Amino acid sequence: MTRKLFVKTYGCQMNVYDSARMADVLAPLGYAPSDTPEGADMVVINTCHIREKAAEKVYSELGRLRLEKEARAARGGRMTIAVAGCVAQAEGEEVLARAPWVDIVVGPQAYHRLPELVARAARAGGGVLDTDFPVESKFDALPGESAPPGPAAFLTVQEGCDKFCAFCVVPYTRGAEFSRPAAAIEAEARRLVLRGAVELVLLGQNVTAWHGNDGTATGLGGLLRRLATIPGLARLRYTTSHPRDMDDDLIAAHGNLPQLMPYLHLPVQSGSDRILAAMNRGHRAADYLAVIGRLRRARPDIALASDFIVGFPGESDADFRATLALVREIGYAQAYSFKYSARPGTPAASLVQQVPEDEKEARLAALQDAIARGQAAFNGGSVGRTVEVLFEHDGRHAGQLVGRTPHNQSVYVDAPASLVGRIAYVRLVGANARSLAGALAGTPAMHLQGVAG
Ligand code: SAH
Ligand code: SF4
Ligand code: F3S
Repeated sequence: MTRKLFVKTYGCQMNVYDSARMADVLAPLGYAPSDTPEGADMVVINTCHIREKAAEKVYSELGRLRLEKEARAARGGRMTIAVAGCVAQAEGEEVLARAPWVDIVVGPQAYHRLPELVARAARAGGGVLDTDFPVESKFDALPGESAPPGPAAFLTVQEGCDKFCAFCVVPYTRGAEFSRPAAAIEAEARRLVLRGAVELVLLGQNVTAWHGNDGTATGLGGLLRRLATIPGLARLRYTTSHPRDMDDDLIAAHGNLPQLMPYLHLPVQSGSDRILAAMNRGHRAADYLAVIGRLRRARPDIALASDFIVGFPGESDADFRATLALVREIGYAQAYSFKYSARPGTPAASLVQQVPEDEKEARLAALQDAIARGQAAFNGGSVGRTVEVLFEHDGRHAGQLVGRTPHNQSVYVDAPASLVGRIAYVRLVGANARSLAGALAGTPAMHLQGVAG
């Protein structure tokens, strides 16, 4: 019997990865993925706790699902609702109290136990909670991937964080830093490539903290080199990195590992040393600039991305101007910026000098303007070049595909659907702040392997 499973994902790429793994865990129970919650036998909401807005979305979503569940029950059916992810971990009891129609609350380190939880919830008639950090790794318990990967596939190699930035919930929701063994990562990477992945994006909340557990001093650079030997794997990326972990070997890999794409998301959060110290980031603005300098010496065309927080407690106008100056100095290809959101249980939430909301709004607008200018300049500077594009999926209109350049730019190209999952040369003909337009150049069917752009 096939049962319908609907999974809704909020938050970061690691939640996207986890959602796919939860579908794998539920597949042996007869659950097949569906695109809508209507008529679903099971709904999983995979949640994010990083900012207040993200966490509050869960409750409005659960309100809508309650109606769906009641309608289903009126027709004599049953819909099981599970809340997974970082909100489940951080406030699982509260979820059950505020939304008693939820059947299962499961944390990010316990979802391999979903089959057991589904059975327990059916017996109990609702309301089971599992937010343990089990001693056994969920990775050892997960089944193989049920659905084929896309051309660019995510692979979680590291989880959790020991850095404790003063604003951040991740060390509490995901737990202590944990690195998966290299052999298990390589086995998963080989399966993904055999089933069609051409690019792998290695994921971790703190992916640059990855370390081999085999007694050697292998870091992420060594892991990337090991994966680069897999035949058919043309591209490697990793995210999210921390400036303090960018060691010589990893930086060297950017210079001499052709599969490693010339793009790095390296969040700095602020350009002010005072604020960086208050955030407990463990580095100064100059240290960050020095890392960027080393990266650029290794790979002169590397495109950079970052995350920023405006309105951290105590941030003055001068502090904020230092952030703007840093943005202009670096010239990011891409960047995400957020208003500081006080998160319960984090050290910064109890600081007295909170920045007023209207000030945060104004700073965010100014920062986003500076970021957009940088992005437009970066994309504009690409026009006229011919680059390798990995086609990932259909575009907005018929006959169009969307792919990615080595610099991680999205590019829209008129191209046959047969090119999805392949790399072809594309001439970049137009640009805006978010994406590029391109035209096929050269032999469209060519599939380049291991050649950097
Ligand atoms: N591990 C990554 C970040 C994970 S969270 C790193 O160390 O950079 C993703 C981004 O959300 C962060 O980079 C930060 O910019 C933002 N963020 C985290 N906590 C926040 C908070 N309390 N308020 C606003 N933005 C936050
Ligand atoms: Fe959060 Fe990243 Fe800091 Fe870890 S390093 S506490 S994940 S912002
Ligand atoms: Fe959100 Fe958890 Fe990711 S809080 S950003 S889903 S690690």
